[in-house]
Amino acid sequence: MKRFLDLADFSREQILDLLALAQSLQDHPQPHALAGKILGLVFLNPSLRTLASFQAGMARLGGNSFVITPGRGTWQLETRLNAIMNGAAAEHVREGIPVLASYCDALGVRAFADGKDLDSDLNEALFGMIDGLCDKPLINMESAMNHPCQALADWRTMDELRIPTRAKFVLNWVYHPKALPLAVPAATLHMAAMRGMEVVVARPEGFALPPQIMAKARLAAAAAGGTVSETSDRAAALAGANVLYAKEWGSTLHYGDVEADASLRADLPDWCVTERWFTHAAPDAKLMHCLPVRRNVAVADEVLDGPRAVVKREAFNRLAVQMAVLHRMLA
Ligand code: CP
Repeated sequence: MKRFLDLADFSREQILDLLALAQSLQDHPQPHALAGKILGLVFLNPSLRTLASFQAGMARLGGNSFVITPGRGTWQLETRLNAIMNGAAAEHVREGIPVLASYCDALGVRAFADGKDLDSDLNEALFGMIDGLCDKPLINMESAMNHPCQALADWRTMDELRIPTRAKFVLNWVYHPKALPLAVPAATLHMAAMRGMEVVVARPEGFALPPQIMAKARLAAAAAGGTVSETSDRAAALAGANVLYAKEWGSTLHYGDVEADASLRADLPDWCVTERWFTHAAPDAKLMHCLPVRRNVAVADEVLDGPRAVVKREAFNRLAVQMAVLHRMLA
């Protein structure tokens, strides 16, 4: 495997194979499998889970890693093409990425959306450039429109919980004080569709996921025997739900317009998951979230601290699935 950028690049069978490898590595540790191998990790944006789980996973397989957080002890990196670099950034990714790739056996990169131009972000303009600059195996640690490591961990979490592939999965928009990227909702939607679930996207008006993202998920659902629909009727969406996947994201109607987005979400703080949201859901319905989560803004304490929440298991599963990806790339 040379690239792990998008679950959609793999067949369902290949994903199931990766999940089986994750289980195998958990049951039968291979502490020397990647001895002598080096993983480079470049974080253009902050992280807790991704950073720690990749370093831990590489160490558990006997390899080493280095972390670059540009601007914090290393040169700030410019990402804009044709930039006149007379500002804070001393180095361009056009030099920085190939140089870092030359020191390691695989590179992981986190590069969030610019959040200004929807078409540019949908086209993965920045990550596409990074992809072209990296001659080593490359892992997407969250790009403008994707977070395949999170999606793979979430698939594993549902398998562990024995949530049937045909179960009802509601990707539910929840409140956040500012617009957040579309990467996790897009990746989550695709994962659940590819798993073959009955997927419903519940979101207020103005927050519909882009048609390209929905169409891609519908194709994956059709191939896996599942369905994808969307609604702004939250109660209808949650009726009979087996999984409520809570996620915050920005308005697509006003993409890049901070003031218009803020005005649209000003009336939506009640989109904070409480136990009442589960009144008509399946009795053992689960609450999923990729973390970090703002307590009592996106999800209430009563849910996060209750038996429905599996958020810490999702985070734990990042380790196993990423070890599987690293093993496939480097062993
Ligand atoms: N879910 C996730 O990717 O967490 P971090 O942003 O902390 O890495």
